[in-house]
Amino acid sequence: MSDRKILVTSALPYANGPIHLGHLVEYIQTDIWVRFQKQRGNLCYFVCADDTHGTPIMLRADREGISPEQLIAQVGKEHLADFTEFGVAFDNYHSTHSDENKAYSTLIYERLRDAGHISSRTITQAFDPIKNMFLSDRFIKGECPKCGALDQYGDSCEACGATYSPTELKNAVSAISGAKPVAKDSVHYFFDLANFTDMLRDWTCAGHLQPEVRNKLAEWLEGGLQQWDISRDAPYFGFEIPDAPGKYFYVWLDAPIGYMASFKNLCDKKGLDFNEFWSKNSDAELYHFIGKDIIYFHALFWPAMLSGAHFRTPSAIFAHGFLTVNGEKMSKSRGTFITARTYLEHLNPEYLRYYFAAKLSAGVDDIDLNFDDFSQRVNSDLVGKVVNIASRCSGFISKRFANTLSEHCSEPALFDQFVDAHSQIAEYYETREFGKAMREIMALADLANQYIDHKKPWLIAKEEGKDQELHEVCSMGINLFRLLAVYLQPVLPVLSGNAESFLNIPVQVWPIKAQPLLNHVINDFKPLMTRVEADKIEMIVAASKENLVKTVATPQAKNFEPIADTIEFDDFAKLDLRIGKIIKAEHVDGADKLLQLTVDIGDETRNIFAGIKSAYQPEALEGKLTLVIANLAPRKMRFGLSEGMVLAAGPGGKDIWVLSPDEGALPGMRVK
Ligand code: MSP
Ligand code: ZN
Repeated sequence: MSDRKILVTSALPYANGPIHLGHLVEYIQTDIWVRFQKQRGNLCYFVCADDTHGTPIMLRADREGISPEQLIAQVGKEHLADFTEFGVAFDNYHSTHSDENKAYSTLIYERLRDAGHISSRTITQAFDPIKNMFLSDRFIKGECPKCGALDQYGDSCEACGATYSPTELKNAVSAISGAKPVAKDSVHYFFDLANFTDMLRDWTCAGHLQPEVRNKLAEWLEGGLQQWDISRDAPYFGFEIPDAPGKYFYVWLDAPIGYMASFKNLCDKKGLDFNEFWSKNSDAELYHFIGKDIIYFHALFWPAMLSGAHFRTPSAIFAHGFLTVNGEKMSKSRGTFITARTYLEHLNPEYLRYYFAAKLSAGVDDIDLNFDDFSQRVNSDLVGKVVNIASRCSGFISKRFANTLSEHCSEPALFDQFVDAHSQIAEYYETREFGKAMREIMALADLANQYIDHKKPWLIAKEEGKDQELHEVCSMGINLFRLLAVYLQPVLPVLSGNAESFLNIPVQVWPIKAQPLLNHVINDFKPLMTRVEADKIEMIVAASKENLVKTVATPQAKNFEPIADTIEFDDFAKLDLRIGKIIKAEHVDGADKLLQLTVDIGDETRNIFAGIKSAYQPEALEGKLTLVIANLAPRKMRFGLSEGMVLAAGPGGKDIWVLSPDEGALPGMRVK
């Protein structure tokens, strides 16, 4: 049908947290667009990957006592399972911690360096003397210099909105160890973005960006482009810079290169030609779907990096807005920070795909998930209008006409009207005006229902000698339903697939020349979608509040919401807290934080791994008492099974304390 060659990406989700409904706006938006392209007969590949590098991932792995590689392997699997169940069908899902990504990151860096776009100089930064690592602004906390609010991050105050540099914070501490940061020098590598000012001025005005994004870019360009710091010092989870031992590429350098890496991985699996899509003279189209928060990286750094390294630049960047829930930012304590998994445990993913489609446009406006609106739209549009057409007509076709459609189309003009709508609907899909496409399709569904209401097959059925009319009316309804199903296919692949089984037809292509199904045998109708039940939504909100109790508050570079919720007494009462006596403590091979403890808890001894190596030599622990959570489910760790949790207190580093022996406390004694 067409010879377009298209490569599409969604932003690479961070491997330090679960997929949530906010993310899904983007992955569903991209997936709908890709499915549409494929349905149109275009050659289209959709690639993505986990974004695995950086400090938060390193710290989380550390806390969990596993290697970053183990953490990202686990999270990668969870992400892909979530996406797959939401019908997001990547042609390839890879990882930025991959050979391909290392190779392209190195190549691009070396090309930029050799062309004189990389420079280095010494900068002074806050350093955590306990953790022995540099601290980015987000990992420094203290009192706001303007309003005095406690516990504010190094770059801005959440209480008064002031922005400042971390050196201005009062009583600053490392958010990781609690230590007082010291200033320390180190050499950093920079990408000289200013060398690309002219290139970017042209590129940003050449139709690759949405108008509102282009205006934003014009402001940034007006303000002058700064050097971009692309290196981080060890310890860092990432790729070491080739000519700079101990220095690593900043996660945002290799993240977009992950798009190439994932595609390269696909090429190797499928025998595709990488250069056809990425070389400077490529005639393929390249699109990046992203959220509005990462425009800077995609519309400035990325085209500059690509052009400096002699690769093609993107055909377009499609930015979308942010998801709010019931009009507010997603919130853990309100139960509106909903993970993909929690949603999947209760509701049909296609409800959400339809709802997002109905709300999405080509712009960068935020979109709101309002639970009442959600139920109402799904119930009235999909169940009440679309599926209803099939269920109203299929009963007669099956009972009276042996599941065979009529030989004639009674209303060819109406059928043609449905077919002719394809060009407008296609234009809306192509330009990402999904909301308009859904309205167009629902207007057709209204027409189909009006046709049936007007013909009243349930009355015709009671009249003598009107079999043919009944047959034609119901067959007409089924034929109209079939066109609605094909138009909805990019949004509702499962419903559409089930409709095809019911209609006994192969996968439908875009219906440019569709003809009615005549004298065609269909299958028995099975309900294609049920109504959204309000109590399911309540269950999701309740479960999302519960997730809160399970999560540990941890500083993350982004979206960190401290958890200060109270727990109920019943939750506390569930803990079996006991005094334990450490009878043996040993080093664990390959673990820099953990000690392996054998703990006597009265009626038994337990094997417990505890992250207290920074504070204690193993010998010093033997004979000491400690609090133990005895009924914690055993956890499989890289080094073995941990059968409980040892409680210790302190800011970290050398300052962590267990209990000291006391004559009154005996192993096994219950505490509460
Ligand atoms: N890892 C980076 C992207 C690197 S791309 C080379 C990142 N990851 S993320 O997990 O934070 O976000 C992934 C995508 O989801 C981004 O495009 C982001 O804008 C989008 N969203 C994350 N939260 C969102 C909402 N609440 N609403 C809509 N989109 C959101 O950024
Ligand atoms: Zn303040």
